[in-house]
Amino acid sequence: MKVLVIGAGNMGAGFVKQLAAAGHQVSVTARDITKAQAVAQQFGASAVPQDNAASGVDAVVVATPYGEAAAALRSVGARAGTVVIDITNPLTADYMGLTLGHSTSAAEEIARAVPGAEVVKGFNTVFAQVLANGADLGGEKVTVFLASDSERGKQTAKALAESMGFKTLDAGGLKNARYLEPLAGLNIYFGYGAGLGTAVAPAWIGS
Ligand SMILES: NC(=O)c1ccc[n+]([C@@H]2O[C@H](COP(=O)([O-])OP(=O)(O)OC[C@H]3O[C@@H](n4cnc5c(N)ncnc54)[C@H](OP(=O)(O)O)[C@@H]3O)[C@@H](O)[C@H]2O)c1
Repeated sequence: MKVLVIGAGNMGAGFVKQLAAAGHQVSVTARDITKAQAVAQQFGASAVPQDNAASGVDAVVVATPYGEAAAALRSVGARAGTVVIDITNPLTADYMGLTLGHSTSAAEEIARAVPGAEVVKGFNTVFAQVLANGADLGGEKVTVFLASDSERGKQTAKALAESMGFKTLDAGGLKNARYLEPLAGLNIYFGYGAGLGTAVAPAWIGS
């Protein structure tokens, strides 16, 4: 598939690495094109300017901070029908809390900001270290939970996740991002707060 990754940081670089390794045609963009170029060069992808970068791709992975996601999506020309994989967590400055929840979620706010985009929540419970190292952790496949109101979006995200070696679990409609974002909060607590480190990931036993 043709995939655009917005963001050349920890998660963006991990996606570029694993998607390219899985044989996808990957482009990466960032505000600072030299950062995108460095990541693209390392993993065999192409760096592209933001303008109209979403045109003609099968999916856009938004790997920016939550607060930048809507602006970043607009800057690449995401529109109605664009499949957007939202990996963001709306974190407080100390990373130990969420800035929204209960009655909405980052994913729903992003969907509202880009009307008609086929937004899928996923990968937000996968630490960058886990993504960079591949989908196998402690002898098990890491699970990617996918929530979306778009069947096409969900199937696209599922195919991409599975091509990278992840197990996927259908987590229902986009509204269930209200559960997945706090789950990432708990993961961050385990990783950083409780000191387990970032080579951990949540799973649903028996699924
Ligand atoms: N790190 C993790 O383990 C992890 C796990 C799961 C989910 N997440 C989520 O994934 C997202 C990215 O996290 P990260 O750790 O990769 O952050 P990061 O290392 O800080 O990278 C963020 C990237 O977004 C780019 N960016 C910011 N605003 C942008 C804009 N308007 N347009 C284009 N690019 C923009 C930044 O580039 P410049 O600022 O240089 O322009 C940078 O390359 C966050 O929402 C986070 O909550 C992270």
